[in-house]
Amino acid sequence: MAKIKVGVITVSDRASSGEYEDLGGPAVRKAAEGHGWEVISETIVGDDKEAIQRAIREAIAKDCGLVLTTGGTGIAPRDVTPEAIREISDRELPGFGEAMRMESLKITPNAILSRNLAATVGNALVIALPGKPKGAVECLGFVVGAIPHCVKVVQGVPTSC
Ligand code: MTE
Repeated sequence: MAKIKVGVITVSDRASSGEYEDLGGPAVRKAAEGHGWEVISETIVGDDKEAIQRAIREAIAKDCGLVLTTGGTGIAPRDVTPEAIREISDRELPGFGEAMRMESLKITPNAILSRNLAATVGNALVIALPGKPKGAVECLGFVVGAIPHCVKVVQGVPTSC
């Protein structure tokens, strides 16, 4: 099968303004490549719903079957990534968030604060990972087993479970 094409979006006011170096995006890219996928798009946006939605749509327009966001899943006043994704999603896949939180809670009690989620947007799977590079990579690892099948289904590739 062709490699899954991935878009990585870092959501952070401070990283997008250059106040600090983006570590989340590169960590997610490395993890995605480690899973055998091809990262064809990388973007950094602020914690702004419209900017997040635009970045997701641009990644999908470039033919990404999987879009991974990192950041903005928590409860800080500016954290809006889940809301941004929900507004443009076709179907939410609650199992992803449930699995990420369940496994992450074994690592840190703060994982309960992360509103990780996954949803389909058009024919792409969008997954919201936490902002901390370590947390983002861990969370991706907890759900990676379901991703190839899910991407095939949303892209209309014939497949069986
Ligand atoms: N999940 C895992 N697996 N590992 C982590 O270190 N950090 C948590 C949580 N999820 C973490 C994790 C922390 S400290 C926060 S505040 C929330 O994710 C939300 O992060 P975000 O707002 O940067 O997206």
